[in-house]
Amino acid sequence: MPSQPYNSLRPRHVAIIMDGNGRWAQKRKRPRTFGHQAGVKATRMVVENCARRGIDVLTLFAFSSENWQRPSQEVNRLMDLFMRALDKEVDVLDNNNIQLHFIGDHTALSNELQCQMETVQQRTACNDGLKLIIAMNYGGRWDIVEASRNMARDIQLGRLQPAQIDESIMSRYCQLGDFADLDLIIRTGGEKRVSNFLLWQLAYSELFFTDTLWPDFDETDLDTALNSYAKRQRRYGCTGSQAIANNA
Ligand code: FPP
Repeated sequence: MPSQPYNSLRPRHVAIIMDGNGRWAQKRKRPRTFGHQAGVKATRMVVENCARRGIDVLTLFAFSSENWQRPSQEVNRLMDLFMRALDKEVDVLDNNNIQLHFIGDHTALSNELQCQMETVQQRTACNDGLKLIIAMNYGGRWDIVEASRNMARDIQLGRLQPAQIDESIMSRYCQLGDFADLDLIIRTGGEKRVSNFLLWQLAYSELFFTDTLWPDFDETDLDTALNSYAKRQRRYGCTGSQAIANNA
């Protein structure tokens, strides 16, 4: 059973599918990349406010394994935006005691971006405030396949016995490994799906969908999501009264 207690008012781990940048730009008759640029502002707001509200872990879906299928100009612009955002924000993140991590398959990213990610990760490694995890070239199915492959390798090397494999071992081999269990997933932009994000980790997380497009997502929207979470009863398969008793 997940370690998170029942009915905890504040989520320890929030993940966000930041959707709607393209539509936000199109509504303004601007190119889609204009929306991504505007999305950086919402990203900054959410990081700052999650840190201020004492959330332990924030995971952001920045680029999915499927996003490579977009027009190459948009992909290039996004990569450029990530480079510049990391470069520009590293001091702010560090000064605010934020520890940065990346998940996903980074082998397809440019060497320059990989180096930049490594630099930012090392620079913030000693911070003990909000853990900010950016999913870059990430896919939930890829995560599960990769974990399975790594378990098979460790079995071959004699480091793991097949009989030892259980849910907690599987979780540890997945990308979010030792981070707190995922409590809440927020998706902006009106679609009600999880789009191959954190498939293993979302088993018991609460879902919150909003029509707000990502560049418009503000502090009030974040509070609406957190307040909605605070009202949920997390039962993990038990009855409502068992959940209350377990939480007493
Ligand atoms: C989805 O909107 C958004 C993305 C694929 C990229 C998200 C990136 C940012 C918000 C930039 C800032 C991020 C970091 C980590 C610095 P969409 O293009 O799918 O929008 P649409 O559904 O309206 O087309």
